[in-house]
Amino acid sequence: MSRHWTDDYYGDLYYESVADLLTARMSGFEAGLIRRLLAIGPRDRVLDLACGHGRHARALSPEVGLLVGLDRNTEYLALARHSGAALVRGDLRALPFRPGSLDALYSWYSSLFMYDDEENARCLAAAVALLRPGGRIVVHHDNPSRLRRQPEQAIQWDMPSGGRVEESSVYDPATGRDSCTRRVIRADGSVLAGVAHLRYYTPEEWEGLAGRCGLDLLGITSTWQADRPAERLDDDAPDLIAIGRRSA
Ligand SMILES: C[S@@+](CC[C@H](N)C(=O)[O-])C[C@H]1O[C@@H](n2cnc3c(N)ncnc32)[C@H](O)[C@@H]1O
Repeated sequence: MSRHWTDDYYGDLYYESVADLLTARMSGFEAGLIRRLLAIGPRDRVLDLACGHGRHARALSPEVGLLVGLDRNTEYLALARHSGAALVRGDLRALPFRPGSLDALYSWYSSLFMYDDEENARCLAAAVALLRPGGRIVVHHDNPSRLRRQPEQAIQWDMPSGGRVEESSVYDPATGRDSCTRRVIRADGSVLAGVAHLRYYTPEEWEGLAGRCGLDLLGITSTWQADRPAERLDDDAPDLIAIGRRSA
């Protein structure tokens, strides 16, 4: 199989550049939002799809009956080992769970749509099939309406370790795909680099995607509008959260 961009991107490059930005406070806020939007409680079996280093699993596992975290990266799973979640190394293109065995699942921080549209739809449909009928799903990614207004961005920031991150991204409204080139220049001068190609679906595209994947779309919101989930997605919101329910 040919090498995919995720093989290079989701290792030290991603983790070293974001670990300090994804604070416990922010992750706790997001976990609270996930819990509310999924309406989950102490009896529910919940999957964190592409759980990374377990920042949401850590906050959510005490709140639910069973929290399972799945990711492909063994180093991230090692960091998640005290999260209280049952951890599974696996690939979201071949999910190793029984259909209908979950009450809810979530995929946060642009962790589901990393492939072409056909593969993305297959991944979503396979995730939805794991839910019992009526079980809920939350998918979070960047807001394409915001990116459409400012398709090219370049930012740099210093890392507490003394290193530096340089990032430039280009969003193509025709394909809905954002290409983000990131370089980490470590304090010792060594450099890590990679390019992420992430697909962000518009609310209108979500309607079609949901229909194809056995999902009733309950709403589209953002972390900005979390207390007003029925409101239309704000074009300037930083992100998009799709909330759905497996069709009966
Ligand atoms: C942007 S990170 C987000 C992690 C976590 N959801 C969070 O919010 O911190 C994307 C995650 O997807 C995982 N990943 C990438 N491709 C995957 C695949 N095919 N199957 C499972 N996990 C994958 C990466 O290892 C990484 O942990």
